[in-house]
Amino acid sequence: MSSVATQNSRVVSGMRPTGHLHLGHYHGVLRNWIELQHSYECFFFVADWHALTTHYENPGDIAGNSWDMVVDWLAAGVDPGSATLFVQSRVPEHAELHLLLSMITPLGWLERVPSYKDQQEKLREHDLATYGFLGYPLLQSADILIYRAGSVPVGEDQVAHVEITREVARRFNYFYGREPDFEANVERALRKMGRKNASLYRNLRRRYQEQGDEEALEVARALLESQQNISVGDRDRLFGYLEGSVKVILPEPQPLLTEAPKMPGLDGQKMSKSYNNTIALREEPDEVAKKIRTMPTDPARVRRKDPGDPEKCPVWPLHQVYSDEATRDWVVEGCTSAGIGCLECKQCVIEQVQEELAPMRERARDYTEDPAQVRTVLAEGTEAARDMARDTLDEVRRVMGLVQR
Ligand code: TRP
Ligand code: SF4
Repeated sequence: MSSVATQNSRVVSGMRPTGHLHLGHYHGVLRNWIELQHSYECFFFVADWHALTTHYENPGDIAGNSWDMVVDWLAAGVDPGSATLFVQSRVPEHAELHLLLSMITPLGWLERVPSYKDQQEKLREHDLATYGFLGYPLLQSADILIYRAGSVPVGEDQVAHVEITREVARRFNYFYGREPDFEANVERALRKMGRKNASLYRNLRRRYQEQGDEEALEVARALLESQQNISVGDRDRLFGYLEGSVKVILPEPQPLLTEAPKMPGLDGQKMSKSYNNTIALREEPDEVAKKIRTMPTDPARVRRKDPGDPEKCPVWPLHQVYSDEATRDWVVEGCTSAGIGCLECKQCVIEQVQEELAPMRERARDYTEDPAQVRTVLAEGTEAARDMARDTLDEVRRVMGLVQR
């Protein structure tokens, strides 16, 4: 059983299976994942059940879209050697935890999640007055809690889902973390730490509880993490005892807000499939060049000799993502004085995008030519994920009274 002590370094995130990814996904999410995978134990998965909550009438090829998306993750540099990659529906433990959590989740909590009403309004063409869609955030909570994750990298729109996850975890621990002999177990655990450490722990706990000293809480947690003589269960008890008198069975995760610069699309709006303004990660070089060359520019630059204003041009935000300062100065100067032409200006962006995409295209080709590699990555990821998920579920079933003695 993994301990609360290690959960701080565990990261979980999911993506709905949208098929081929584009530069918006890369700059908005994947670059962040790729960075996190080196410092955290990462679980990244395809949220295929979540796709069904909105597109149940016409699911299309969810499996194919999941596959293409995973190939793009790998192509972009998500490393299956450091991160665990899998598909949600292949780890049915998520569903069992979702069911068990549903028992304790007040309806009002789900009805109040902002995305519930928003999405119903926005996705008018789908009837989202379903049990499954109401449960969307709770399924997400199960995805996160089953790995006892400390952090969840998400965009702004998902923060409310992490928040409800915290509330559900708190409620769960409150109901099922109250062992009848909790205080006695705490005392027993403290004795195993030795006199000095036990008294240090007690002092720190008192400082936190009486004076709200957050630093004392941090130090106490670090102290627990460094203890070699106590079991995982005891460590969780002592973690829980710091803040109250429950054992932390499902730790509360933190959102890790991805402050991604919104990737501009080809028309100046945010890059998104629904605006049809994307460059795919596996776009062919000719197509990349063509798409950028035909981008609209400042409408004032009708002729080459007309000066323009980068602020009014959809190409300019791409320079913000891709160009160094010298190039950007060159653009401002050349555009406003009609010193450069738009094609010249776009050429810099084209080159940068090509350079970024070339290695991805190559890696994607390796994987599509040898799909067994992808299958292996997913099979191994699923196994690793299930091992951890089973551990959490064993404890959840036990504290909920489901295990025959
Ligand atoms: N709802 C998330 C989204 O639309 C996807 C998701 C499902 C997720 N389960 C998750 C994200 C767990 C983070 C953690 O982007
Ligand atoms: Fe846009 Fe560059 Fe043309 Fe100016 S020179 S209008 S920034 S493409």
